[in-house]
Amino acid sequence: MKKFSVVIAGGGSTFTPGIVMMMLDNLDRFPIKKLKLYDNDGDRQGILGEALEILLKEQAPEIEFSYTTDPETAFSDVDFCMAHIRVGKYAMREKDEKVPLRHGVFGQETCGPGGIAYGMRSITGMLEIIDYMEKYSPDCWMLNYSNPAAIVAEACRVMRPESKVLNICDMPVGTLRRMSQIIGKAPEELEVRYFGLNHFGWWTSVKDTEGHEYIDQIRNYVSEHGYLTQIEVDTQHTDPSWQETHKKAKDILAVTPDYLPNTYLKYYLYPDYVFEHMKDHPEFTRANEVMQGREKTVFDHAQQIIAKGTAEGIAFDIDAHATFIVDLARAIAFNTHERMVMIVENNGAIANFPDDAMVEVPCIVGTDGPEALTQGKIPAFQQAMMVQQVTVEKLVVEAYVENSYQKMWQALTLSKTVPSAQVAKELLDDLIIENAGTWPELH
Ligand code: NAD
Ligand code: G6P
Ligand code: MN
Repeated sequence: MKKFSVVIAGGGSTFTPGIVMMMLDNLDRFPIKKLKLYDNDGDRQGILGEALEILLKEQAPEIEFSYTTDPETAFSDVDFCMAHIRVGKYAMREKDEKVPLRHGVFGQETCGPGGIAYGMRSITGMLEIIDYMEKYSPDCWMLNYSNPAAIVAEACRVMRPESKVLNICDMPVGTLRRMSQIIGKAPEELEVRYFGLNHFGWWTSVKDTEGHEYIDQIRNYVSEHGYLTQIEVDTQHTDPSWQETHKKAKDILAVTPDYLPNTYLKYYLYPDYVFEHMKDHPEFTRANEVMQGREKTVFDHAQQIIAKGTAEGIAFDIDAHATFIVDLARAIAFNTHERMVMIVENNGAIANFPDDAMVEVPCIVGTDGPEALTQGKIPAFQQAMMVQQVTVEKLVVEAYVENSYQKMWQALTLSKTVPSAQVAKELLDDLIIENAGTWPELH
């Protein structure tokens, strides 16, 4: 079997060790010749790089491993770039979550004003790594899960339409794992129909390979417990804030009981509830929970490996639900025609939705990339919500391209999470100050 060369962009990410462990677990399905880490923060990446170098020497010495901050070294001679950068890192995520609170609006990583602010930063970093990839390895595919994926995907559609960038999110596959537990079936046995935008969608069907429909059974469960399951499907989503989110799916379902909702709809359907919840502890948001939790654990483990000079007895968790990244790479590499929910240009997949919207739908993925499966017409309620949200995402990208203050103000005003044009303007002026130097200048 051919062996592949992979670069992980955002090598200093809290998810890097879990994804490397997951790739080691899947070497029989996706053999790796060379693995490189790339980050523009050498100090942060250096800790994970040094630890993974020790670990790989012990567990997979045949893989050529290196880590670098030099784009040419990183992006030369690679087949796949797995990208998970966070422009502005945790310091800026914290601001995305906290600044809106001053204006009576919740703050969140990818939704509402937080996601809009993050989007304006992320586009620059994404264009930078796409350009490096195309310069040094023109045939390389980027499997991108850097957030906010909806805005990043729209920016790619507008500014890099020919680039081989696939935008994906782990939420559809992560929630499917929860559903599979609810009904006692393996996730690989299930096939879904789904429509929406990233972090903004609904399942319309969950069937097994024999065609048995489980949507009623899952609905009954979710209407009582949300997506809270007995056994946890991963470590990330077990933190208290995620448990709360999974529970809240019960109330999202109540609004549209025909279909099973993505948990992120809570931010659009219950923004007042989220704000009330956050304002009781404005100094401790999800960014703080992650910094004290996942980030600390991952970097502590890396430091221990470095100090001992061995990874024996010190385990990084395998990011098991990230196997969809290997499934995607395999689909491209071996033309497997894997069915996966991805973020692609609509072009009729959702019949009553604009062609040029980036939507999240099941696709068949092969050597030439994803082909969307048609999902038919969607109901007026979902369609209206999606038109509003996709217009926000498009306005952010237009604001970026045109350096337009006006469009950014419109984007914030149109977001279902912001109560008025006045609040949107005050928020925007605050975000401009807080994001100085990381956003394009708006005028
Ligand atoms: P993190 O801050 O720990 O890691 C991100 C890394 O990216 C940092 O080391 C940072 O230095 C680096 N970086 C920033 N800008 C860069 C640039 N221009 N070039 C190269 N490197 C750069 O963040 P994290 O919590 O591990 O998350 C990483 C990313 O993955 C985030 O964007 C997060 O939202 C995303 N994510 C997405 C999904 C999904 O479903 N799509 C799931 C999980 C995480
Ligand atoms: C899910 C989403 C990602 C998001 C992540 C945040 O996995 O699909 O898009 O980045 O949650 O998780 P965190 O643990 O960093 O809050
Ligand atoms: Mn996601």
